[in-house]
Amino acid sequence: MQRIYISSSEKETKKIAKKIMAGFTGSAVLGLVGNLGSGKTQFTKGVGEYFKIKKPINSPTFVLIKLYTIPQPAIIKTLVHIDCYRLRNSHELLELGFLEILNNKNNLVIIEWADKIKNILPPQTTLIKFEYDQLPTRRKMTIQKPHN
Ligand SMILES: Nc1ncnc2c1ncn2[C@@H]1O[C@H](COP(=O)(O)OP(=O)(O)O)[C@@H](O)[C@H]1O
Ligand SMILES: [Mg+2]
Repeated sequence: MQRIYISSSEKETKKIAKKIMAGFTGSAVLGLVGNLGSGKTQFTKGVGEYFKIKKPINSPTFVLIKLYTIPQPAIIKTLVHIDCYRLRNSHELLELGFLEILNNKNNLVIIEWADKIKNILPPQTTLIKFEYDQLPTRRKMTIQKPHN
């Protein structure tokens, strides 16, 4: 299933993120794909708002992986935010415990630059493509849910 969203502002991107998250019940893996500044981190901030995470969400470009505890009683207890921008290869992420992260059913995993680790992305990954769209504040998001 593929769905397209057009966002006209940073705020709208966060709103769309919340709407998308409402469609998930348990743990999930979201792979965000798109150029620098296309809105992947803004989207993740929207996810943080959806789960009422108080700690500000910033790009984990240098640390690669950041964990955020979800305060409310929910199936998902931790948002794991991964940024593959500086990753040299998939092996590096495996060494950081990627498989253990995926196997933990309490985790919601969001991966920026997911196309860089295509060969180790689980088949149930929901891919979201971010693109610039005509105006400087417009973004197109194409969400591709996996076939079950
Ligand atoms: N519609 C929009 N959605 C998301 N970000 C937008 C939008 N319009 C402008 N922006 C700006 O684009 C930038 C997106 O940055 P960011 O989310 O960090 O991108 P990425 O993580 O993909 O590199 C921010 O500076 C944000 O203010
Ligand atoms: Mg980012």
